[in-house]
Amino acid sequence: MANYETITIEKRGAVAVLTINRPDKLNALSSSVHAEGVAALDELRADKEVRVLVITGSGEKSFIAGADIGEFADRTPVTQRQKFYERSLFNSIDSFPKPVIAMVNGFCLGGGNELAMACDVRICSPNAKFSQPEINLGIMPGGGGTQRLTRLIGEGRSMEMMLTGDMIDAETAHKFGLVNHVYNADELETKTMEMANKIAEKAPIALALCKEAVKFASRSNLDEGLRREVDLFAICFSTEDKTEGVSAFLEKRKPVFKGK
Ligand code: COA
Repeated sequence: MANYETITIEKRGAVAVLTINRPDKLNALSSSVHAEGVAALDELRADKEVRVLVITGSGEKSFIAGADIGEFADRTPVTQRQKFYERSLFNSIDSFPKPVIAMVNGFCLGGGNELAMACDVRICSPNAKFSQPEINLGIMPGGGGTQRLTRLIGEGRSMEMMLTGDMIDAETAHKFGLVNHVYNADELETKTMEMANKIAEKAPIALALCKEAVKFASRSNLDEGLRREVDLFAICFSTEDKTEGVSAFLEKRKPVFKGK
C-alpha cells in the first residue's frame, strides 16, 4: 500500500481497516481525505487478499464530523460540482465490490453520515451522534444524504433531520434503521471485526453480486430488480465457489471459497 497522510490502512488477515486520521479536526473530510481515500480504495479493490473493508475514524470522539468546513470558504459552484462529479470518496465506496462496514465511534455528521450511508452496514458505539447539519451552514447535503438517508429511514424522519439539522443519538439511529447494531465502546471493534471476519469467509464473487443486487433494489422498480437478481444469481452458477459451496454442504464440511 502507498503511504497516506490523512488516512491509515491496516490489513488484519482478509479484513482491511481504513481509518480517517485527522483527530485534531474530528476527522473532517478534506479534499486530501477524499483523494487519498479514493486511491486507497483502488488499491484495496485490486488486492485479492482483502475481502472486507471496515471504515472508521481515529480517536474516541468522532467518526467523521462532516466535510472540512474550512475548505468551503473559497469554493465556487464549478469546483464543488467537479469534486462530487469526479471520483468522490462516497462514489468509490458505493461502487466498491467488497463488503464495507462503517464502524462509527462518535460524531457522524454531514459528509460523515453520508459516507457511513455509502457503506453496506453501520455499527456504532452508544456515544455516536448522527446528523445532517448542513442547513445550519446555509447549504444542504450534497454527498448523497438527501437520497440515501431518505431510502434508509423514510421521508418524514429524513426531512426532520435535514430541515432541523438536529443530532440523533445512537439508540434513535438504531430505532430508525440508520445503524444495524449499537455496541458498548469497549466491544465495538471486537464485534465489528467478528462480523467482518464472518463475511470475509463467504464467496467473494457471490458477495459482490449480492451487493450489486441489493443496491439495485433502491435504484430500480420491482420488475427490473427481480430480473437483475435472476441474472446475477445465474452468474453465481459459473463460479468454482458455487461448486465448492454445494459440495461442502453435501459432504458436511466447511467450504473454502477462493473467489473464483
Ligand atoms: N470541518 C473542519 N473542522 C472541523 C469540523 C469540520 N466539519 N468539525 C470540527 N472541526 C474542528 C474544529 O474547528 C476544531 O478545530 P480547532 O481546534 O482548530 O479550532 C476541532 O475540530 C475540534 O472541534 P470543536 O468544535 O472544538 O469540538 P466540540 O467538541 O466543541 O464540538 C462538534 C464538536 C462536532 C459539535 C463541532 O465541531 C461541530 O459542530 N462541527 C461541525 C459539524 C458540521 O457542521 N459538519 C457538517 C459540515 S457540512
